[in-house]
Amino acid sequence: MPRVPPGPTASASGTLASTSPAHTRSMGRALGEAAAPGTLVALIGPLGAGKTVVAKGIADGLGVSSVVNSPTFVLMNEHRGRLPLYHVDAYRLDDPEEALAAGLLDERQAGGVTVVEWADRLGDWLPDERLEIELIPEGAGNRRRLRWTAFGEAHERLARTLATPKGRLQARR
Ligand SMILES: Nc1ncnc2c1ncn2[C@@H]1O[C@H](COP(=O)(O)OP(=O)(O)O)[C@@H](O)[C@H]1O
Ligand SMILES: [Mg+2]
Repeated sequence: MPRVPPGPTASASGTLASTSPAHTRSMGRALGEAAAPGTLVALIGPLGAGKTVVAKGIADGLGVSSVVNSPTFVLMNEHRGRLPLYHVDAYRLDDPEEALAAGLLDERQAGGVTVVEWADRLGDWLPDERLEIELIPEGAGNRRRLRWTAFGEAHERLARTLATPKGRLQARR
């Protein structure tokens, strides 16, 4: 699969502090509510950082009623919501190139919302237009730093919802 020419460079970035799983989930919900067809959220962080919690929040925001868990035996789960949610977990991916050639990320996702856990495992194969969120556990408790970077205008707009009063309000619920 040929690489496309150089895509957008990071257009916006910021940091958020989460103090609980519910807090992180509500940040995800704000993203799910604002998500548009073609939204891609790339989640990076160690095991237990809260990537799946973000995915569950995004599902909430999309009105998904099925249970969102890390896709364990498959690389991708699909859920029905306001927009289809494609939930990818690249943890067990040995060969990203092969998985992508086999259709892990394909044109269907342009019509839905894609959330990729362990997105760093896709390396350069990750689509250029995306909202990347790195979850960084701070200490042994519930604190997480969420460092986000938006690539491209659409995802920059999406990222702004994280900073809106509504997003903050939800984040405190
Ligand atoms: N601030 C927080 N945000 C997200 N999860 C948190 C937070 N504090 C504690 N947790 C806990 O950390 C774990 C995160 O699990 P999960 O989302 O499955 O991680 P990952 O998908 O990154 O491996 C959950 O048990 C969750 O309750
Ligand atoms: Mg997970």
